Parts: sequence; structure tokens; C-alpha cells
Amino acid sequence: MPDAPPLEILLSEQQIQKRVAELAADIRRDSPEDVHLVAVLKGAFMFLSDLVRHMDGAVTLDFMAVSSYSKAKTSSGEVRMLKDLDSGLQGRHVVIVEDIVDTGLTLIYLQEILRARSPKTLRTACLLSKPSRRQIDAAVEYIGFTIEDHFVVGYGLDFAEQFRNLPYIAVLDDES
Ligand code: IMP
Ligand code: MG
Repeated sequence: MPDAPPLEILLSEQQIQKRVAELAADIRRDSPEDVHLVAVLKGAFMFLSDLVRHMDGAVTLDFMAVSSYSKAKTSSGEVRMLKDLDSGLQGRHVVIVEDIVDTGLTLIYLQEILRARSPKTLRTACLLSKPSRRQIDAAVEYIGFTIEDHFVVGYGLDFAEQFRNLPYIAVLDDES
């Protein structure tokens, strides 16, 4: 990307790693026997991969992809399923692993369709939450960091598919 604006680091790699280890311990404590992590592509890929490295015992993974934003920085409110899960959820302890909860519209959609598949328990882990932008109250049992209303990138989160590779979270507001 030519002329990329300088990015202001909001959460450092060290801060993220420490918090992800804590979240992994919380999830393990609540589902000690086995847990099935459902990661939402693409944004949650880095969070998931760090999370599972901090969990011992039985863990299984699956992936789904949804699209709520195109190239815009705000949600259209329309959620499209791009890739469904490979296996069923019946009787399993399921945790949705998502990068960020913003308006909450994506999460409500996901929770509704996954709950209909009869998991034994359904919880949600989000690395980031922007509560000031919430339009609908989606339950999130595990939140990494609560942040102000900034558009953020890095650690899996993108703007127009860029910046997912950064090991930290940075602010990409218009004025930055
Ligand atoms: P929601 O439906 O508005 O809660 O949006 C959730 C989805 O929008 C997230 O899973 C992200 O993919 C994307 N998103 C929301 N805020 C940001 C942001 O600040 N940076 C990058 N992606 C974001
Ligand atoms: Mg996402």
C-alpha cells in the first residue's frame, strides 16, 4: 500500500498475548472437559491460533465465514454466510471466537443460527468490544479489551483486507 498513514498502536503485542492467555484460562475453567471453538473468519484467525496454544486438554476447532462489511468502515446490518461449519454442534460445549463486537448485528446472527443447532452450551469470546457502537445487546461471556469508538486494524482485523498481519492493534481513523 503506497502512502499508508502512520498507525497509532492501541494495544501492544505484549498486552494482547497476556490477555489472550487469561481468556484461554477462563474458557478452560468454564468448559474443563472439552470445548469446541468456532472461529469467525477471517478476522479471528490470529486470536484463535494464540488462544488454542494456551489451552491444554481437549479442544476442537471449526471455522465459519460471514461478511458484514464490504470495503466500508461501518456495518450494513446485513450478514451473509460465506462458509458454514464442517461439523454439527449437537451436545457440544461451543465457544464462538470473534475478533470484535461493534454494532452486535453479526454476533446476534451467528448466535441465533448456532443455537438452533442444539449445542449443550453456547458462549462467545471477542478479543475487542466497542460498547458505544452497540445497536443490539449480544451476550459476550469473554471480552479481551473494551475500546473507544475507533476503527482498528491488526491482529487479524483488516481494512479492505490489509493490516491483518500486524501482531498488535492499531487505530486507523480518518484523521490518522
Ligand atoms: P458488527 O456486526 O457491527 O458487530 O461488526 C462485527 C464485524 O465488523 C467484526 O467481526 C469485524 O469483522 C468488523 N469490524 C467492526 N469494527 C471493526 C474495526 O474497528 N476494525 C475492523 N473490523 C471491524
Ligand atoms: Mg469479524
